[in-house]
This record gives sequence, structure tokens and C-alpha cells, in this order.
Amino acid sequence: MEDLAPRPGDLEPIETASRDEMAALQLERMKWSLAHAYGNSPFYRARFDQAGVHPSDLKTLADLAKFPFTTKEDLRETYPFGMFAVPREKLARIHASSGTTGKPTVVGYTLKDIDTWASVVARSIRAAGGRPGDIVHVAYGYGLFTGGLGAHYGAEKLGCTVVPVSGGMTERQVTLMTDFKPRIVMVTPSYMLSILDEFRRQGKDPRESSLAIGIFGAEPWTNAMREEIEHAFDMHAVDIYGLSEVIGPGVANECVETKDGLHVWEDHFYPEIIDPTTGAVLPDGEVGELVFTTLTKEGLPMIRYRTRDLTRLLPGTARSMRRIEKITGRCDDMMILRGVNVFPTQIEEQILKCRGLAPHFQIELTRAGRMDNMTVHVECTLAAADEAARAGSARELAHHIKSAVGVSTAIEVHDPGGVARSEGKAKRVVDNRPKE
Ligand code: DLL
Repeated sequence: MEDLAPRPGDLEPIETASRDEMAALQLERMKWSLAHAYGNSPFYRARFDQAGVHPSDLKTLADLAKFPFTTKEDLRETYPFGMFAVPREKLARIHASSGTTGKPTVVGYTLKDIDTWASVVARSIRAAGGRPGDIVHVAYGYGLFTGGLGAHYGAEKLGCTVVPVSGGMTERQVTLMTDFKPRIVMVTPSYMLSILDEFRRQGKDPRESSLAIGIFGAEPWTNAMREEIEHAFDMHAVDIYGLSEVIGPGVANECVETKDGLHVWEDHFYPEIIDPTTGAVLPDGEVGELVFTTLTKEGLPMIRYRTRDLTRLLPGTARSMRRIEKITGRCDDMMILRGVNVFPTQIEEQILKCRGLAPHFQIELTRAGRMDNMTVHVECTLAAADEAARAGSARELAHHIKSAVGVSTAIEVHDPGGVARSEGKAKRVVDNRPKE
């Protein structure tokens, strides 16, 4: 694989600024953001008043802990436009989450916000090894989801040639990749695996493709999956993180030269890690819930937004911005089986250890009496695999899960293609337990 370390002059000055310079910029911007939210969003004004805090109470970055959290429920309760801090006419764009339950959460951007967003995505693509002139194949969904348009504007801003394919029509994805010869693909890691299968189905060697860099995110994925994809395509695979409420993709990104977690673009998004139960701020290095405060966003400032994502903050390496470790999962995705906490990423890691199994999987939860049970649905790599081979793979996986994660699971090995695929974010957990 190509050596993609940045060359002198490639980086923005802020990416190598000292911690003191960064903190000074953050404090100045945080003061602006709190005053903007309080002054222009009735929601925040009421919330701060209720908590007895005023933007002028922020004298240091640590004072942020005095301010109340914001949650997804707040966005739902103020649906659709109740939290914005600019008049609706000043919004250039609306995006919304699909909202698996109830109403979607709506977010809005001014033209300046769209430009900020494009800049952080451009920086993310550059961190991944992208350069002006590269062809970027965007297979994140376009539409209300922030993935497609977010990636698109960032790639254009960096000076790339964008191919806005969106998700779906997997056969065509491979045709376009073969014909247009993109250097970069931006897509969810789970959909990249479907694209990989399609390469093989068409009898094309994925290692011979033009792809040199994949920028994968929008869902949790493991370092084991990184190795799988890097090896299959002979390409670099780096992680991109973000969420619509904070801006979209491009809140944090891995650097290709280190691949050691994602640098948070701290000049725009201030991260904290809290104890999800007590709300107390935890020191860097401890695992907890990631919370963000936007520092420059106009349309929908987010003050101490609880992401529900679990990770920890680590010092900067390739950039001076702090890193987050790869996200373990969302608080909501955590399953508790006989007292043991289990995340889908832990299951993914174990599947990737089994040679006879493909990394497409889904976890089904059922209940027998008062016992919760977990079945892992997974595919064998070869359609020709006989009963004995499948049973062997199932035993191997059950053993790995038991020894590494500590829970007993049933395993069902399906034919290739037998596990539900998604063209965007994979649905890893199907909960078939009776509703209480
Ligand atoms: O998924 C934005 C995005 C698009 C990020 C494309 C990266 C690439 P939402 O639909 O609002 O926005 O979902 C946000 O997805 O809170 C995480 O739980 C999860 N997520 C996003 N990126 C990652 C990642 C987009 N790299 C939610 N690793 C977040 C793990 C991720 N989880």
C-alpha cells in the first residue's frame, strides 16, 4: 500500500497548533457559542435560566460542566424547528435522522455552517490520505441522511472529482468503480463488504481495483474489520465519525499514517467524556459517553449534546487535536446477557477470527421464561460448505465468544447471502423479546 503521510505544507496550521493555542481558541469560541445559543434560541435560554447559569459564568473551559446537557429527546420535543438559533429563512439546508421510533430529529444549517462542514470533511479526507484531483466515489446515502451530501461537499472543497453514486444498486457500484477508477471510496463499512462480494461475483479481483483509500463510518466497526477490508482491496481503511446533531460526518477522523483512533476537529467541536449514569465529567483516558459542544455552528448550536456513543479521549499523535478511540458502540446497543455487557462490535471481532465465516452478521435476542438468549446469524464463506463444516464453524465461533466476551450464544450459519444486508447502516441487533 502507498505511503500516504502528509507532506510539509499539507496541513492547516491549527492541526499542529500547541495545546495552549487550541485551548485559547476553544475558550473564545465557546463563549461565543453559549452567548449565541442563549441570545437566539428560546429553548437554550429557558434551559440555562432553569439551571441558574448564564453564558458569562464560563470563565474557563472546565466551567462548561456547569451547563445543562442537551439530548435527542430535546430535539424530539421541539420538533421540527424549535431549537434553531437563527430565523428559519437563514437556514440553507435541513437534514433529518430516519427516526426508527417516533418522529425524526431535524437539524438545520446556515450557509456558513455548510461551509464549516465542508471544511472539516475536506480535512478528514486529507487526513485519510486524499488529495486535490482524486476521484471520490461516494456511496453513502444522499438525502435527509447527512452521509452523502456531507462527504460530497467536503470532497469538492478539497478539490476532488466527486462521483455521487449514493447507496444501493450494488452491481452498478462495481461497474462505476471499474470504469471511473476512483482512488477513494466513502461508504459504510458494512456496505463495503457487500460491494466486495459483488466484485467477486463479477469475477473481478478487488485487489486490482483502483481504490487506494476507504473512508468508512456512520456505524461501529472494528480493527479486525479494517484488516479484512484492507487485505481484500489492498487499500487503506480509515474511520470517519460524526452525527447529524453535531454537524454530520467529519466531527472526527483517523489519520492514515497512524490509524490509532480518530482526531476530533476540536477547533469546531469540543468533546467531553461523562459517566452515563451520573453525568460527571471523566478525565481523559476513561471510557464513558461522548458529549459535544459546537463552537462555531450558527443554525443549531449544540451545547453539551449527549451522543450515547461510548469511547475515551486520548492525547493527539499525528495531529495536536485529541483522539477518540474507535467507538465501542452506543449505550442503546448494549445488550446485557446474564449480567454481562455485550456490544455487536465484540461479536464482529470474534467472527473475523473464524476462517469459514464471512463478516456479515446479525444478532437476534429472544426470551425463554425469564432468560434472555442471543443467537448470532452469520454466513459461511463457501456455498459448498457441508453440514459438518458449518457445525465446526458454529462451534468455533461460540467458543471464541464464550472465552473473549464471556457469554454463551447460539450460532446459526447461513448460506452466503443468507443474512440481511443493508445499503447504509447495518442493523446489527434484532430484538424479538416480547414487549414488556
Ligand atoms: O452517521 C454521520 C456520518 C455519515 C458519519 C457518514 C460518518 C460517515 P447519524 O445518522 O446522525 O450521522 O448517526 C450518528 O452514528 O452517534 C454513532 O452512533 C454512529 N456513528 C457514526 N460514525 C461512526 C463511526 C451519521 N465512525 C451516529 N463509528 C453516531 C461508530 C459511528 N459509530
